[in-house]
Amino acid sequence: MEIKKQTNLRGELTVPGDKSISHRAVMFGSLAQGTTKITHFLEGADCLSTISCFRKMGIDIERNASEILVHGKGLHGLSAPSETLDVGNSGTTTRLISGILAGQSFTSELNGDASIQSRPMKRIMTPLLSMGADIVSLRGNGCAPLRITGKPLHAAHYQSPVASAQVKSCVLLAGMYADGITSVTEPVLSRNHTELMLNGFGANVQTEIHSDGSATASILPCEELYGQKILVPGDISSAAYFIAAGLLTPGSEILLKNVGINPTRDGMLRVCKAMGADITLLNASTEGEPTADLLIRTSSLHGTTVEGEIIPTLIDEIPMIAVMAAFAEGTTVIRDAQELKVKESDRIAVVTEGLKRMGTDIQPTDDGMIIHGGKPLHGAEINSYLDHRIAMSFAVAGTICDGTLTIKDGDCVKISYPEFYEDLYSLGK
Ligand code: S3P
Repeated sequence: MEIKKQTNLRGELTVPGDKSISHRAVMFGSLAQGTTKITHFLEGADCLSTISCFRKMGIDIERNASEILVHGKGLHGLSAPSETLDVGNSGTTTRLISGILAGQSFTSELNGDASIQSRPMKRIMTPLLSMGADIVSLRGNGCAPLRITGKPLHAAHYQSPVASAQVKSCVLLAGMYADGITSVTEPVLSRNHTELMLNGFGANVQTEIHSDGSATASILPCEELYGQKILVPGDISSAAYFIAAGLLTPGSEILLKNVGINPTRDGMLRVCKAMGADITLLNASTEGEPTADLLIRTSSLHGTTVEGEIIPTLIDEIPMIAVMAAFAEGTTVIRDAQELKVKESDRIAVVTEGLKRMGTDIQPTDDGMIIHGGKPLHGAEINSYLDHRIAMSFAVAGTICDGTLTIKDGDCVKISYPEFYEDLYSLGK
């Protein structure tokens, strides 16, 4: 994929639906009584993997141009799949569905692509095993493929060492099938879409934020979920590429419509502001998931420090923030972000490799990176390592830098943003 240089980004854009919310809408809709109608669903490969898994368990899911209809069969209505559930590249599908499968009355197997087969699953196996689940890593390496034999589950408390919405959601979903109150404490509050949406479907989830910043989510055993209408907001993780492009590209003014700004996801906006960004929130709405239109104007950016509690709220945006930091004046330090090493690629290593190739002075650290920005950057050959967020972050870099930037396996953007390149070229000159 060869990236074209751009100037003067102008106009409006509606980014695709939120990936985390789209996954959950299909999952909870499948477990609900009645039909769930999902509007602005993300038609990315990851969410399509979730649809395919639930279809294999007997759920009728209709896709038409404007919405998805999930004809749920209730909490105990899934049927045993006759083949392995293919989760593709999707960590969210793997970890959330495992919590659901642990409480069923059948055995199932999950597998996905090479990236999924190297991502850590012990983080969900440990709490599920403590609830009495039968979950096995078939190669004994703590990764997929996984075999899960449904069992009666016991309520448990899990103290998670990582702030991970996937781990938290897995435990809460298993907790729906348990014999008492199940809870999970994480060191910092991670995205809370599961808690919000499950309550909307009729479950009983409570959240407590403790004085040290840690957070506990608890769920009661669940009798029934009820089908809902879900309007999926634009994904702030997809908006991030256009926020960065608008800020960094000379002569730009772009309006990103209806972007989700849930405070557990909005860290990118706060970091941009700290870097000197001109971003205005318009038409803010707090009905359901909070949303706003984001007006982005070209800004001269300076370095900042990104650390601590903000990290889970921008974890997927760090590759883009690192690229922004390379163009900004001064030094940016990113720390407390060890989780980057176990995403779709090792994002500390891969971002460092790409930015070094473009001429950036960057040092990887054990939990982040140190970027000395402001040097002129040049085009290069960038390996995406099949990681959609790496491809999109460097595509934005390629629209700004001098010379030609090419991205190996650039079509991996289809995981979360199939129309990314069309949208990228729709705004500029
Ligand atoms: C997600 C949670 C995050 C995030 C991922 C989506 C979710 O992962 O990086 O892209 O939808 O719950 P972790 O839970 O591993 O932090």
